[in-house]
Amino acid sequence: MTPSRSVPGSRSASRLGLTERVFAGAKSRKLLRTIEGGLERVEHSLAAELRIADPLVDAPTRYLYEAGGKRVRPMLVLLTCQLGDGATDPVVDAAMALELTHLGSLYHDDVMDSADVRRGVPAAHSVWGNNIAILTGDLLFSRASQIMARLGERAIRLQADTFERLVLGQMHETIGPQPGDDPVAFYLQVLADKTGSLIAASAQAGIIFGNADPAFEQPLMAFGEKAGVAFQLLDDVIDLSDDPDQTGKVPGTDLRAGVPTMPYLLLTQRQDAASVALREQIDAGVAEIAAGADQSILDTALTALRDHDATDETRRLARTWSQQGIDAIGHLPDGPVREALTRFAVAVADRSS
Ligand code: IPE
Ligand code: IPE
Ligand code: MG
Ligand code: MG
Repeated sequence: MTPSRSVPGSRSASRLGLTERVFAGAKSRKLLRTIEGGLERVEHSLAAELRIADPLVDAPTRYLYEAGGKRVRPMLVLLTCQLGDGATDPVVDAAMALELTHLGSLYHDDVMDSADVRRGVPAAHSVWGNNIAILTGDLLFSRASQIMARLGERAIRLQADTFERLVLGQMHETIGPQPGDDPVAFYLQVLADKTGSLIAASAQAGIIFGNADPAFEQPLMAFGEKAGVAFQLLDDVIDLSDDPDQTGKVPGTDLRAGVPTMPYLLLTQRQDAASVALREQIDAGVAEIAAGADQSILDTALTALRDHDATDETRRLARTWSQQGIDAIGHLPDGPVREALTRFAVAVADRSS
């Protein structure tokens, strides 16, 4: 299959309205221009970094980068560095390395989740096969480490610690809760590790490499982690969305593959007859798909789950995590950066793509 061509950054945060929401209001306009300038530098450097070897290697490596993405993590780095010296070259490098880490994790994640579509294009493994997709992810992780190495020991440690947590999150999600574990608490820890860790590191990186007051590091890590959990909870809701044009993914990918996302977990806690019946329908469908049945046998059940209160409860839970993130930065200096971070936390818990 020939990879479809698309405009780089075509699904950027700006196109998706995230930037507009984070930088709403006249007072934020100057900050928005600053962040957009920084994002352009990140984009420019990413394009250069992703010429790694020969055209055969670079094609899969550039593939998902060129397909778009919201650049949420670089945006956070560029935002928190404004509490210090702003977007210095080390800040731009760190933002780039964290985005490359995210990008590499998407190649691997789509293999693990058997996802067909990513960023609105066929997933890399469905174009080149699992081996190339896995190796491409590895290449991106190597490149991220090389960039961090330019910034010194602190950066290498941040990269290694964050990546370890991300992988442990993916591992624990794959292994699943053990007898005696509370499934919801276990899953929230998975979300904090697989997604919160990188978003926390992004918020932290702006402080470290922007030479801001080190006292801001802890609150921003807490902010990033909580907002990251809220972000991932909404990802679970979006997994049930029936609008692949907006999400860039195939609806129900996780659940059809038997990944028990939060709406499903909250459904299993309910004892009313309708909830129990829906759970049985989903479990039976997942088992049949695993045995080779067509994915569409779960369509009706997934629509029912999307409209079930368990999905609304997931949204409410996301808002709680988002508020905890906002509370964590309560003592940061009052001003446009804190305001934008607050809007960011609200927006990620209330997004549709
Ligand atoms: C998708 O992340 C994977 C998660 C950790 C939820 P994003 O929603 O940030 O993906 P892109 O970068 O915009 O494609
Ligand atoms: C992705 O989680 C987390 C990482 C890539 C580390 P999901 O599997 O839930 O995210 P999507 O839905 O594929 O983007
Ligand atoms: Mg996935
Ligand atoms: Mg996954």
